[in-house]
Amino acid sequence: MKKLLFIAGARPNFMKIAPVIRAAKMTKMFRSVIVHTGQHYDDNMSKVFFKDLNIPKPDYFLGAGGGSHAGQTARIILHSEKILRRENPDLVIVVGDVNSTMAGAITAKKLGLKLAHIEAGLRSFDMSMPEEINRIVTDSVADIFFVTEKSGIKNLKAEGRKPNRMYLAGNVMIDSMFYALDKLKKRLHSRPNFDTAELKDKLGEYVYLTMHRPSNVDNRKKLVRLVKILARVAKIFPVIYPVHPRAGKSLKAFGLKLPPGIHAVEPLPYMESLFLWKDARAVITDSGGLQEETTVLHKPCFTLRNNTERPVTVESGTNILVRDSEINALPDMILRVKKGHIKKGNVPYRWDGRASLRILEVLKTFSHSKS
Ligand code: UD1
Repeated sequence: MKKLLFIAGARPNFMKIAPVIRAAKMTKMFRSVIVHTGQHYDDNMSKVFFKDLNIPKPDYFLGAGGGSHAGQTARIILHSEKILRRENPDLVIVVGDVNSTMAGAITAKKLGLKLAHIEAGLRSFDMSMPEEINRIVTDSVADIFFVTEKSGIKNLKAEGRKPNRMYLAGNVMIDSMFYALDKLKKRLHSRPNFDTAELKDKLGEYVYLTMHRPSNVDNRKKLVRLVKILARVAKIFPVIYPVHPRAGKSLKAFGLKLPPGIHAVEPLPYMESLFLWKDARAVITDSGGLQEETTVLHKPCFTLRNNTERPVTVESGTNILVRDSEINALPDMILRVKKGHIKKGNVPYRWDGRASLRILEVLKTFSHSKS
């Protein structure tokens, strides 16, 4: 049996490794080892995702979370090196674009191990985003690239990566979403016991908001402006806002109170988040994954960013970028949704819930031609 070693550490990583680990198990050809870097460590940022998505308990937990990006990256490299040496896997797999992705990639390659990157090739062309640095570094050392959209292939080619190592496999986030939707449907046959179920019922119609990027929450002036605009949105539809620890820390540090109409809740488990946003009138976000998920469920999505590394969601999906210069128009955009003017979208190629199966088909052949 070939050994696959997954390195994951932050919330969006867990949704991406889950379906691949499941598919690997089904083949009976691979054994999976999971290294959790501990980048995210609160139960509601980590443990609940393992439970919702049936991810096996990690084999290793590095406890490398918190602190500066450099400190976090350094700790992950230092701690994972020992494990990678000991495990000597046939292939290391990293996913997405968080610090754990980049740190895991560097460690694997410095040890001469083969490396696959799932969600390779995405580029925002904005080097002020920590994730853009992580994407570029990871793809500069990876051996196999699993790509979610055509722009990824184009970007990798432009950076000189070998086309015969690129696979437009689809989107593993969407595999997880379909898996969770199915589970949710079954669960909702019995009474939903989510903490937010009552709030959802009470509000009826609402907008779902996630906002945690440094570019939106780290700067006082920007966050004050956003909160004012969101207060206007909340007069059109009430807003449910699960507050990420980074955003929570900023709101507190800047002494900002959320206006009435914005219902702040704790960061939510994957299923509970899906339970809320799938029935929202619209989603406002700065997350990467939600831009993709909303596109597949044809949900209006307004992305509070100047750019996106996921252009297919704007070009053919329901995503609309709301740049800094356009942010005052956000309440009008939500008003248009209320009046029924909704952007029509198409589901991108291979975002069908089967990406992880395609990835495993590739890995079967790769494992035989390792050298
Ligand atoms: C990270 C990712 C980002 C992703 C986000 C999803 C990077 C560069 N960024 O950002 O791409 O969208 O995760 O959530 O990797 N914290 C807690 N408890 C936790 C986790 C974090 O209190 O369980 C605190 C940390 O101590 C830190 C802050 O939240 O002060 C930010 O955490 P960090 O992992 O550095 O980055 P995120 O903003 O979560």
